[in-house]
Amino acid sequence: MPRISRKGESMPQSPIRKLVPYAEMAYKQGKTVYHLNIGQPDIKTPEVALDAVKINSLDILAYTRSEGSDEYRQKIADYYSKHQIQVNKEDIIVTTGGSEALLFAFGSVMDTDDEIIIPEPFYANYNGFSTASGVNIVPVISKIEDNFALPPIEEFEKLITPKTKAILICNPGNPTGYLYSKEEIKKLAQIVKKHDLFLIADEVYREFAYDGVIHYSIMQEEGLDEHAIMIDSVSKRYSMCGARIGCLVSKNKTVISTALKFAQARLSPPTLAQIASEAALQTPQSYFDNVISEYVERRNILISELEKIEGVKVAKPKGAFYCIVELPVKNSDNFAQWLLESFDVDGETVMVAPAAGFYSSPNVGLNQIRIAYVLQKDSLIKAVNILKEALKVYKD
Ligand SMILES: Cc1ncc(COP(=O)(O)O)c(C=O)c1O
Repeated sequence: MPRISRKGESMPQSPIRKLVPYAEMAYKQGKTVYHLNIGQPDIKTPEVALDAVKINSLDILAYTRSEGSDEYRQKIADYYSKHQIQVNKEDIIVTTGGSEALLFAFGSVMDTDDEIIIPEPFYANYNGFSTASGVNIVPVISKIEDNFALPPIEEFEKLITPKTKAILICNPGNPTGYLYSKEEIKKLAQIVKKHDLFLIADEVYREFAYDGVIHYSIMQEEGLDEHAIMIDSVSKRYSMCGARIGCLVSKNKTVISTALKFAQARLSPPTLAQIASEAALQTPQSYFDNVISEYVERRNILISELEKIEGVKVAKPKGAFYCIVELPVKNSDNFAQWLLESFDVDGETVMVAPAAGFYSSPNVGLNQIRIAYVLQKDSLIKAVNILKEALKVYKD
């Protein structure tokens, strides 16, 4: 048989999905599985977005422009301007999800063997995007004890080499739920300017900022135009994960013209989904107010229930809908598998994401899991109770 590529061999499995076969076994055994493992919100997609697809009168489902339709990009720019982000439609490339925007950003600013510094734990697919782009992640560790705040700038400086091309942050963070403050963004701005690096910010959870704190985007930071690349998506904002629409935003014209070449190679983002995403921009503020208060309630319940369990440590998330939880176990991979294979409370069990896959440093996060609070409150309470009962009997 011809040999597959080394790149293919080293592509990491998603830590979020790798336990799926065990969940399927649990279903076959007749168990109910509470999914705390995946960030698929259970919130309804705004009706305006769904209706726009149902009532459109297209005769031909044609390609759009590679950078996305003019109308849609103009409306995205208007939307950002309401969030104190001043960009033009020319600064925006519409992509097939935030995922493709990340791939375009990596492809546009880094060559094989270049380095990107990322605070870890980080969104697990950054590992996959780096492997696919031939880029090396250099992790800087953020700690549960500090709620996963930005590590001291000196820690970043220690890691900068001639191969370093960019720093990537996720704000608010998946999997940490950490929301970077304006001061932290300013510190990052200083360091990327000093060392002439790109600052890529994955802001797909921008709306999910809690406790009255307002999200501060890298695009609001003055003097960062040549350095800042923002990644965005409709997936979580409008609970439209299946639309597969995102965008890459930068005031750096060379970044945009380079990313556009990647966009041209794949021709066009999906046409129908752009129609839905354009319509979604009319979603009333009341939709977000309801969604945010629902997530805040879920977060509060989740954290207070988890804190009642002996030996469990949890960082309180300030945004997004995830948290990292430290458990009194040696290996959360084994624990997560055991939960699905061998444990239940009255026929019910939980699926969690082992956190090691959110780190690129070996042997870190082995006793941690990521929880996505995308379930109704009563289900969350039941799921945490199952974890509590499981920890009473589990043996490493
Ligand atoms: C932090 C982060 N970035 C990017 C993505 C990619 O989202 P999509 O490709 O659905 O826009 C996700 C999805 O979960 C995410 O959590």
